[in-house]
Amino acid sequence: MAVTLGIDIGTSGTKTIAIDETGAILASASAEYPCSHPKPGWSEQDPELWWKATCSTVREVLAKGNLKPSDIAGVGLSGQMHGSVFLDGSGQVVRPALLWNDQRTAAECAEIEARAGGREALIRMVANPALTGFTAPKILWLRNHEPAAYDRVKQILLPKDYIRYRLTGTFATEVSDASGTLLLDVANRRWSQELLTKLDLDPTLLPPCYESPEVSGKISPIGSQACGLAVGTPVVGGGGDQPAGAVGNGIVRGGVVSATMGTSGVVFAHTDEPGFDPLGRLQRGCHAVPGAWHVMGVVLAAGGSFQWYRNNLGQAEIDAAKLQGVDPYFLLSNEAAEVGPGSEGLFFLPYLTGERTPHFDPDAKGAWVGLTVRHERRHLIRSVLEGATYAMRDSLELIREMGVTISEIRLSGGGARNALWKQIQADIYGNDVVTVNATEGPAFGVAILAQVGTGGFASVPEACDATIKVIERTSLDTKAKATYDRYYPTYRKIYTDLRDTFKTISTLVDN
Ligand code: XUL
Repeated sequence: MAVTLGIDIGTSGTKTIAIDETGAILASASAEYPCSHPKPGWSEQDPELWWKATCSTVREVLAKGNLKPSDIAGVGLSGQMHGSVFLDGSGQVVRPALLWNDQRTAAECAEIEARAGGREALIRMVANPALTGFTAPKILWLRNHEPAAYDRVKQILLPKDYIRYRLTGTFATEVSDASGTLLLDVANRRWSQELLTKLDLDPTLLPPCYESPEVSGKISPIGSQACGLAVGTPVVGGGGDQPAGAVGNGIVRGGVVSATMGTSGVVFAHTDEPGFDPLGRLQRGCHAVPGAWHVMGVVLAAGGSFQWYRNNLGQAEIDAAKLQGVDPYFLLSNEAAEVGPGSEGLFFLPYLTGERTPHFDPDAKGAWVGLTVRHERRHLIRSVLEGATYAMRDSLELIREMGVTISEIRLSGGGARNALWKQIQADIYGNDVVTVNATEGPAFGVAILAQVGTGGFASVPEACDATIKVIERTSLDTKAKATYDRYYPTYRKIYTDLRDTFKTISTLVDN
């Protein structure tokens, strides 16, 4: 039996799973940690939190699965994308990491476009426009705002690659996560020397870049002591959480698209070509499948909006859930299900941390629009689920506009475990939606990549075919679809109407 581990360094926690070569989950463990927002629009985390969570969850998985360290054939790493871990010459973290949903870098994005020779020239080099959450603007922000810290930086890593460093002592990344730095020549799957030169960045700041199933390092004696894995266990490249999650959902061929509601919400499609869009409307990157690419649209606070509601307005449900031994989200969703599609004219914009696709607007904000005395808490809850889903539909529409034929939408993340949200997704997307047997998303995807990288399967699609099956279909309700089709243009218009006001609000808060 070839057992592999998948470790996913998420924004709200780390999840580790062990699978066998049939894809059966032998054990899983997760550990949560907080995210800090020291200023409006800022989002940071101390990488030490990820490391502690990695060590505790790996040890827990070994214990729960009754696994010996020598049983583990390989490890795959996945994680929140775009985050910047700045290390000094002795491998120490210089400052907390800036995360994917941090919005402080608007000026640096403009600087990057200018240095690159314009937006289209930049997209030609790295397949994407400069987006505030990407890594390159964060590096320039450090250089511009904390020069003393910047001068100490000798290595820049993505979150999961920092964990690889702690586990193996090796600096390495892989193409799918590197695509989200804005420094990868995505078409040729290597760092863009051209852009690095234009940005005056030393290429030695970046680690070697592998394909996702390739072995990139081995567990070191220090890593072994900390997490309990055997010295020499291979660690494969792995993937950014979205490409890895796509592998874990079987999105490894054209036509099948995934819609994932984690903290962020992502619509993801596999492509056989790198593609080029001068407007850069969707994110493009290398897939975790060698020789393949992807496009995706990212809603920054999809599940994150529901989590925000639970944390700030759901205390009654949190308390009741504790008494009943159920999940607060279950109670919140039951209340939302009492209201019909459209929440009686109440709209929620989920732009709680600005928005990426389709607006690219760090100043975008959340809003409830359409409140009347008739609305109750249950309407508020339902409108949050609907608002996050309309935002996902925006990305789906862009993917459809690109001419991608969508034969199937596979759901994952929290939105795939919630019956009401599944139905809302089918009705707002205008498509039946399905779920697969594998529900562990990115952790499962990278455990699969580790199976491929250590010889268990010849290719990623072969591994997915052997382990992932559609198990459930939620059919579209045509009446609800018709309601949502009537409401959707108004959802879109609210953002356009409020865009300038959002910018003004930002200046009020900043001053
Ligand atoms: C993808 C993105 C997020 C993060 C966090 O581009 O920004 O999905 O990876 O999950």
